[in-house]
Amino acid sequence: MTQMEFPPLKNDLLLKAAKGESIEQVPVWIMRQAGRYLPEFQEVRSKHDFFSVCQTPALACEVTLQPIKRFDLDASIIFSDILVIPQAMGLTVVMVPGMGPTLPKPLKDPTDLVRLVKPNVEKDLKYVGDAITLTRHKLEGKVPLIGFTGAPWTLMSYMIQGGGSSTMTKARQWLYKYPEDSHKLLQLITNVIIDYLVMQVKAGAQLLQVFESHGDFLNDELFENYSFKYLKEISDKVRQRLKEKNIPEVPMIAFPKGATMNSLEMLAKSKTYEVLGLDWTVDPIEARKRFGPEITLQGNLDPCALYASEQEIIDRTRDMVMKFGKSRYIANLGHGILPDIPITSVAAFIKGIHSV
Ligand code: CP3
Repeated sequence: MTQMEFPPLKNDLLLKAAKGESIEQVPVWIMRQAGRYLPEFQEVRSKHDFFSVCQTPALACEVTLQPIKRFDLDASIIFSDILVIPQAMGLTVVMVPGMGPTLPKPLKDPTDLVRLVKPNVEKDLKYVGDAITLTRHKLEGKVPLIGFTGAPWTLMSYMIQGGGSSTMTKARQWLYKYPEDSHKLLQLITNVIIDYLVMQVKAGAQLLQVFESHGDFLNDELFENYSFKYLKEISDKVRQRLKEKNIPEVPMIAFPKGATMNSLEMLAKSKTYEVLGLDWTVDPIEARKRFGPEITLQGNLDPCALYASEQEIIDRTRDMVMKFGKSRYIANLGHGILPDIPITSVAAFIKGIHSV
């Protein structure tokens, strides 16, 4: 297939940092940069429910561009949600205000696996591809566009737990009680993710992030068996499929939030992803020491640090860049931005990064 024509990219700092090329300035973007802390986002959300915004390319494009218009960011990330995959696999997911994403009928035990359908990703998740293509045009090459997915374990745990949880015991129970069916479910999700990421690159995504947001529930053994195995398969097969289709490869970021230092080290040294995203509990100096010079690190200011004064945000941000070092580094928060963070604090964070 031939690649679509898009406006030429003017700011390639993120792509260069991801590939380990030398850069003039540290690139910065923010997880959940399109979100409730922006009044213009609230305005859109007051008229449309969450998943309608995801499913309507013009709206998804509009909110993706909102933070780019306001701030000096070096990347955009398509507005969507990781839970569009469980939806495409036949489960109902609703956004309950104050509770977050909820699945009213989660998978109770392996007999429920028959409820899942194998989606036709090009058709059922076409709205995400259309939003990506539209956004690539509307960005006019200002910054690159990141596509994303949830990782298999994170999606499996939502599908079983039915929503967020501080323990994830229903989901973790499966790993011990039904190991074979757990692998069966993870493999079904992995197959969908591979199709989904390839589709996103075809549509115009220039970098891909895989969110393993529930890494904090896995010890080293569980991480290796139930997370790493599939993260590696995703990276290997997405690259292979792109090659077969003559589509240029894109850099990939893994963000295993809350994973142990041993698990992070294993993932880093496996060289399956160009970039490793770190949450705010990981010490930058130790991370560099343990993960080696051949991986780009991304992160990791505590999202709550943005509640400090502007001067303190700038100081902490500059300190973070010094600790990571300016090469092979992408600045970000250690998790998504919180809904009540002042706009001025976000500007201070970005200013701090760009002032080093
Ligand atoms: O980063 C971006 O700007 C792109 C948009 C994005 C959203 N969700 C929009 C969103 C991305 C990358 C995600 C990924 C996502 N969704 C993850 C992985 C990242 C992470 O946080 O670990 C997860 C776990 C989800 C599931 C999910 N969706 C949660 C936990 C929530 C928060 C619920 C809440 O009430 O706080 C959502 C909702 C959501 N996704 C919002 C946004 C802007 C806010 C909801 C709203 O507008 O009402």
